[in-house]
Amino acid sequence: MSTKGVNKGRRQFLTVATSVVGAAGVVGVAVPFLSSWNPSAKAKAAGAPVKADISKLEPGQMVVVEWRGKPVYVVRRTQESLDALTTGSLVDVLRDPESAESAQPAYAEGVQRSIKPEFLVLVGLCTHLGCAPKYRPDVGATDLGGDQWLGGFFCPCHGSKFDLAGRVFKSVPAPLNLEVPPHMYESEKVLVIGVDQETA
Ligand code: FES
Repeated sequence: MSTKGVNKGRRQFLTVATSVVGAAGVVGVAVPFLSSWNPSAKAKAAGAPVKADISKLEPGQMVVVEWRGKPVYVVRRTQESLDALTTGSLVDVLRDPESAESAQPAYAEGVQRSIKPEFLVLVGLCTHLGCAPKYRPDVGATDLGGDQWLGGFFCPCHGSKFDLAGRVFKSVPAPLNLEVPPHMYESEKVLVIGVDQETA
């Protein structure tokens, strides 16, 4: 079961081709790209917001968007993964299930840590030493706890684990939940990263 699940999870990982990444060549990605568009390199360096077309993101898939030189993960969560966020066996093993000590805008507080429940937006940098956690939506993965694993992110550097709201597990090196960056929705199709919902 686990092998099948792992393969499925890997197929669900997409990468957004941004103008900058595209110019450098996107190597080794054998999955469809989602369209995205960015401001100029100069504007990006200054921290300009970036936009991503999320209309083709299927439930369970993740795309990566570059913002301020950081990877931002955008996951379209399934109803099952949303339901799992309040499962007692999961909450019991989370360090900060209410995200009381973690970084997220006020509009992304609560268990789901998102504006729209189905779309999770996270800075893809581990809160331990900044590695990029792997997207592991494969429920029941034997290498991540078997039946206890309800999907999430795994940091390969020192083994930190996060759930599908970016909430960190207990007894791992990472001290905090993954950061939720400022973001908003320009339309049903377009996510804007780097701008707060209230101030846009
Ligand atoms: S950098 Fe992720 S666990 Fe250390």
